[in-house]
Amino acid sequence: MSYIELPMMQETGYVVVDQYDQAADPAEWADLIYVDWKSSGDTRFAPLASAYGDIECNGFWNHTPPKTDKDGVWVKENVAIAPVLTERAMEPGANVGRCRVIELKPNTYGEALYNLHRDDNNRLNPVGTGWIVRGFFNLTDDADSVMIVRSDKDDPSTEVRIPLPAGQQIVIDTQRFYHAVWHPGDQVRYCMITSWESGPELQAWMDARHPVSSIPNHPIDPAVQAEGEKLAADKRAARAAALVAEGKDPRFGDGSMSLAEYETMEVLSEA
Ligand SMILES: [Fe+2]
Repeated sequence: MSYIELPMMQETGYVVVDQYDQAADPAEWADLIYVDWKSSGDTRFAPLASAYGDIECNGFWNHTPPKTDKDGVWVKENVAIAPVLTERAMEPGANVGRCRVIELKPNTYGEALYNLHRDDNNRLNPVGTGWIVRGFFNLTDDADSVMIVRSDKDDPSTEVRIPLPAGQQIVIDTQRFYHAVWHPGDQVRYCMITSWESGPELQAWMDARHPVSSIPNHPIDPAVQAEGEKLAADKRAARAAALVAEGKDPRFGDGSMSLAEYETMEVLSEA
């Protein structure tokens, strides 16, 4: 037995649906209650649904009792501030796990490549139930920013760059495909990320919005691309050397980091 999956997501790992009219809604994300992730102040999250309804963003498996990334409990303080966002997260009718708004500071292409990672959405998820994927609703208008998706982290030819204008709606199999956001500019970016269970409800929601699983790649300057690859490679080498110096195994999960780093990276670089 395996998981219930959506066939149209299996080849490229992503589906883009019709853009939402974001400009018609209030900027609810500006008023939410955010929390820093660990000691870093670089990335903040505002949870709308967490493991047990508290204002925190830890993985559901890190709680007592642990649970898979389903049956998120709505955070009443933030739901009261953001009823429209909450309604949008529930709109597909699929089971919702983690749901939060991310605040992401600008970065470079090379930093984004360094941040490429896969999520751990399906830990403790019972076989035979729906595979957990994630929805990304871009809230701010970041038309020059892109969601980078790669099937092979180290192969640029597998890269897809999906632009992130306000109202962009993407569903990604973030456990199978590497992803990170390249966000140039000088303003923070806001995006709502929701864990959904694959199944007929999510498929029907996508079907009603002209889903496409292949889009033209957002252009990139070859010089920027080359510079970014070098920066990411240099940063990975430095990190591996530092881990070795600390007596840690530099290879974990995708082959490039420790468990602790892997879990931190997932959140820090959350797209
Ligand atoms: Fe992620």
